[in-house]
Amino acid sequence: MSARALTAALGGWRTREPAYEALADGIRILCLDNRIAPRTVLPAERELATALGLSRSTVSTAYQSLRDSGHISSLRGSGSVTLPLRRSAESTAAPEVGMIDLQQASPPAWPGLAGYLALAAADAVTLTARAGYDVLGRADLREQIAQQYRSRGIPTSPGQIMVTTGAQSAIHLLATALITRGDRVVIETPTYPHAADAFRLAGARLIGVPVATHTGWDLERLTELFFRTRPALAYLMPDFQNPTGRSMTADDRAAVLEWAERTGTMLLIDETTADLDIDRGPRDRGFVPTSESSVIRIGSLGKTVWGGLRVGWIRADAELIDRLVVARPSRELGTPEFEQSVALRLIPVLGDIVRDRAAYLRAGRDAVVAALGDRLPAWQVTQVDGGVALWVELDAPLSSALVMGARAEGVLLSAGPRFALEGGNDRHLRIPFTAPPEELIAGVEVLARVWPSVVRQAPVGIRDMWSAPV
Ligand SMILES: Cc1ncc(COP(=O)(O)O)c(C=O)c1O
Repeated sequence: MSARALTAALGGWRTREPAYEALADGIRILCLDNRIAPRTVLPAERELATALGLSRSTVSTAYQSLRDSGHISSLRGSGSVTLPLRRSAESTAAPEVGMIDLQQASPPAWPGLAGYLALAAADAVTLTARAGYDVLGRADLREQIAQQYRSRGIPTSPGQIMVTTGAQSAIHLLATALITRGDRVVIETPTYPHAADAFRLAGARLIGVPVATHTGWDLERLTELFFRTRPALAYLMPDFQNPTGRSMTADDRAAVLEWAERTGTMLLIDETTADLDIDRGPRDRGFVPTSESSVIRIGSLGKTVWGGLRVGWIRADAELIDRLVVARPSRELGTPEFEQSVALRLIPVLGDIVRDRAAYLRAGRDAVVAALGDRLPAWQVTQVDGGVALWVELDAPLSSALVMGARAEGVLLSAGPRFALEGGNDRHLRIPFTAPPEELIAGVEVLARVWPSVVRQAPVGIRDMWSAPV
């Protein structure tokens, strides 16, 4: 990793004194977020010191701290290399007993799911009579998914649907099939980070369009990006955007579609969170193009039903679906039959499931909003009317330091920069409201306990500029 890339990824790392510990923490959090992969060679001390405007001894002491905590090893001649994280430290590891894991914004399984799994299992003999490898998805399930679109006023045939192992797999497959190295892809910032990773892997050059909790999408920037850079594709979450929870207005949707069509930009609309409506009410989701080939939609049962049920889908024009059938097998040979047969039973009752989900998410959202108002009133919390998380504005740019502090107290969260395209968002923290309310309240309690000491340890400039005295 070059000193330049590490400097960019570190963003506003200088969150506490001494500087070497702040730098070491900045690198630790990049490792925890998988933004620096294990076995990555870090820049030489001298290079990083120059890039960051630090003395070499500060970098050297930071690397020593990382060696002491088991994050890197250094060998003469081969530099300093990041080590695989211990299970307990991994960002995606199951939390230890007593820990509160708020890193993933995914609700637990819908309570009725177990019954549907049992029904599908009871039909195992019929199921095992099927061929098994199913790259496109079973016809009856594709027809059901197509019917869902038709009921929204979007004419759709089963030939326009591919069933995938979740929306993530859909994003990855589309990125591989549609992006040529160097293509520009417009993506929201903050965004759902695994989508950004998938486009990067495909060789895309990502360009960010800001989304703010108060004002939504920066449409001025978006129009400029469309017309100036002529991107190949724009990946957007117009409903309950993850992590801000914002939804586009009808005018936003119409404008974006028009610009995309005029500039020949493919729109990839991620509707994974679109059904998680707590109290917004139904909205026309728009993006009905004049030409079938300019809008692709993806959906999933991951948030409405359960992340462990790996079923998602792509809706595109039939020609693209045919191309995807050819492109998919190099990575996976289809969606498992059992999951598909469970999905087949769930889609007809999705309306009821979504209503249950709204009640569950309302309890979580209201618990977090109340706890934050009570315990951390200086943080700005914008009410959201659906989705999975709050995108909270802290009163100091110390998101990463807070996440490290909370982790030491048994609460796992992802810091704001994880959702940024190129660093930044240090003043934001994503707090999912998908866990049970008592866990969420306990989590906020820990944040309130840790925050004053995080602010106290911050360098004087940051403390004075951003914080009320604590
Ligand atoms: C916006 C968005 N898209 C896609 C996904 C991935 O969903 P799935 O579990 O269906 O792969 C997520 C999961 O967090 C998400 O938030």
